[in-house]
Amino acid sequence: MTSTNDIRRGFLDYFASQGHQIVPSSPLVPQNDPTLMFVNAGMVPFKNVFTGLESRPYSTATSSQKCVRAGGKHNDLDNVGYTARHHTFFEMLGNFSFGDYFKEQAILNAWTLLTREWGLSPDRLTVTVYHNDDQAFDLWRKIAGLPDERIIRIATKDNFWAMGADGPCGPCSEIFFDHGDHIPGGPPGSPDEDGDRFVEIWNLVFMQFLQEADSIVGDLPKPSIDTGMGLERVAAVMQGVPDNYDTDTFKALIAASTALTHTAAEGATKASHRVIADHLRSAGFLVADGVLPANEGRGYVLRRIMRRAMRHAHLLGAKEPLMHRLVPALVAEMGAAYPELVRAQPLIEATLQQEETRFRQTLDKGLKLLDEATAAMRPGDTLAGETAFKLYDTFGFPYDLTEDALRAQDLHVDRAGFDTAMAEQKRAARAAWKGSGAKASDDLWFDIAEESGSTEFTGYAADTGEGEVVALVHDGVRVTEAGAGDTVSIVVNQTPFYGESGGQVGDAGSITNDAGLAATVTDTSKQLGRVFVHHATIDAGTLKVGDAVKLRIDVERRSQIRANHSATHLLHEALRQRLGTHVAQKGSLVAPDRLRFDVSHPVAMSAAELADAELAVNAQIRGNGPVVTRLMTPDEAIEMGAMALFGEKYGDEVRVVSMGADADGTYSIELCGGTHVGALGDIGLFKVVGEGAVSSGIRRVEALTGEAARSYLTARDDKLREAAATLKSSPDEVPARVAALIEDRRRLERELAEAKKALALGGSGGAQAGPEDVGGVAFVGQVLNDFEAKGLRGAVDEAKQRIGSGIAAMVAVNDGRASVAVGVSEDLVGRYDAVGLLRRAVAVLGGQGGGGRPDMAQGGGPDGDKADEAVAAIRAAIAG
Ligand code: ALA
Repeated sequence: MTSTNDIRRGFLDYFASQGHQIVPSSPLVPQNDPTLMFVNAGMVPFKNVFTGLESRPYSTATSSQKCVRAGGKHNDLDNVGYTARHHTFFEMLGNFSFGDYFKEQAILNAWTLLTREWGLSPDRLTVTVYHNDDQAFDLWRKIAGLPDERIIRIATKDNFWAMGADGPCGPCSEIFFDHGDHIPGGPPGSPDEDGDRFVEIWNLVFMQFLQEADSIVGDLPKPSIDTGMGLERVAAVMQGVPDNYDTDTFKALIAASTALTHTAAEGATKASHRVIADHLRSAGFLVADGVLPANEGRGYVLRRIMRRAMRHAHLLGAKEPLMHRLVPALVAEMGAAYPELVRAQPLIEATLQQEETRFRQTLDKGLKLLDEATAAMRPGDTLAGETAFKLYDTFGFPYDLTEDALRAQDLHVDRAGFDTAMAEQKRAARAAWKGSGAKASDDLWFDIAEESGSTEFTGYAADTGEGEVVALVHDGVRVTEAGAGDTVSIVVNQTPFYGESGGQVGDAGSITNDAGLAATVTDTSKQLGRVFVHHATIDAGTLKVGDAVKLRIDVERRSQIRANHSATHLLHEALRQRLGTHVAQKGSLVAPDRLRFDVSHPVAMSAAELADAELAVNAQIRGNGPVVTRLMTPDEAIEMGAMALFGEKYGDEVRVVSMGADADGTYSIELCGGTHVGALGDIGLFKVVGEGAVSSGIRRVEALTGEAARSYLTARDDKLREAAATLKSSPDEVPARVAALIEDRRRLERELAEAKKALALGGSGGAQAGPEDVGGVAFVGQVLNDFEAKGLRGAVDEAKQRIGSGIAAMVAVNDGRASVAVGVSEDLVGRYDAVGLLRRAVAVLGGQGGGGRPDMAQGGGPDGDKADEAVAAIRAAIAG
């Protein structure tokens, strides 16, 4: 038996030997087509090569492309498990000619591979051609020698293949394998063609035209070839089984689920094993390609697939989550051909286990409700749409899961009723929305969200992407077109631009297209929590709703934002470890050039605490641990130790970001929707530059990372060098030199003050004024210019002591103002009153009051120029 892995290898090797370049499979999320949910054909990654927009260093290629047909245009979900050849995930083998060979060589290659290399009997093969493609008809006759009745002309779109409403297309020719008359079914074009006897194994598309909105608008630059062979189907043929699920790969996957559930692969449990095997493949590959379960977009298709399989696991009697235990079998079968599966194995297992653990919490209750609702129904009856909606809304049953659950009893679901209930819930949510308070603008965003759904954010993994413009808003009003010079808000279906939230600022970047559009995005915001709005100015070209555009974020700016965001998490943990667990985040700003982090803490942080926290953050950076993001329920997140951000509301699902390590395990675990570095070393460097109060009990730490931190430190270093140069010393000696200078200065000030005092005291009467005799009383009266008032009392005391018995009066003049002090020696108190004498002087100086005791009084006045007169007034008063 030829294994599926050998067939894949054999196909690629055969075309490589014919000069084709082997091109690895593209990821399942399309890289070049915003309108497509998943890659669903081998040619999708080559779309732009066919149309001439892109050129490659080869003109012929071959690939084994991963495809998912679930959700979107091609949807095989409903048939999976119940037919022999439907899958949500499959591999498409293909050979491609980009203007190189055309029909003849394509037919020759196909026929040679099938009949010569692989040895299929020509008698078992039948082909179709488009009804008017005489050329293909003749070539089949010539090359394969097929009789006319086995070259069937088909007039329907089955034989005119188009990628989608837009894109390359052309007539095609399909090759069918006849599994034999023991299987029911007729040849293509016959009434019972849908049976399993004649199975299409290979489609050769003669790509010639370009389609827009489902009509042909022109020719491709050159006639080209696109072929697609379902690997699972051809494996069934080569392994002599009419059913894809009986091929080696599927048998191995089904063996794993039968072993774990102790149930049979056939009989009543057959469909369940098949659904599980198929859905295990699509879920595993989607997770490996970066899709995670969500309630919108691609993530919701993945969730539908997963939950559908999980109900079947439940039907098989699994008491514990099952799907994640099947992943090793998937990796064993397919990991060699698709190394991404091996790399992502832990993530696939964790994602499946979490989803199943969670879904099992409501699955039983939901099924019970379903049993009750259908108890009285008979085959052919229809379940109320409201019940299906309740199952969806309360128990997490995707619509198609309910349909699938009722299928065995031949019951249907009222889709219209389900849609009405869903619309009603949306209306109620809108009415209850408090939002920004600006009703008109909220209405606008609600309209856009209802028409186009939530924006899918692709920027966790990608810096660039394509999107389809779903709305344009100019001056608060929706428009269908905008041109050069306009400032518009642009909404696309999917974007790598982060919309401002959780403290992280929105992305900036550019939006362009191949028709000359150039727009500069200065900021991105998020409306209603789910519509991403690019605030942009159109520099050139025009932009219309419906256009496909290329989006590119400012990568350098985002890298800085990432570094600052991850550093914020590290800082949070470092502060908690040092200051205590009362430290909780109260706000943050994560911008490209800086970060700001507000925490609850009653007092200012000391320099030592901050330095220690800074040290810890830098140690984590140097540790270069990975940053790991996982989705889980809020409860699970809190259980695993994530810091819950007080006061924030979370949905069913949270992203949990873990980073770094210390003796207790993971260093930081936080709930966060922001973008982060891949490894902590990417932060480079972390530097705290400020700490202060925001309000009572809330402190703010400001910090820098990476290049901003480096240039901050360099600027500081430059200043230090400058200071050293001025001091004529080295930077290391600056602190000692500055301390010495300050000490010098203090000493000099002291000396200067002494000198001034001495000078002043010696001022009006030569050296130290001796007392004069005023009516028999020794009197020292002096005016001291530039003498500080605070030294005045001391000067008066000194003079009193010097003369022993007598009166001293001194007036200090500073900046035009006068202060005056009068002292009377003990023996004269009674005869003379210092306060009374003072008042005389104060009156002369234009002042008021002043006071003290009978032996010492002090006061002052504004008229410094009357200082001498004030002294004279005291002298006169003593003389009586
Ligand atoms: N693109 C062609 C198909 O998907 C080959 O059938």
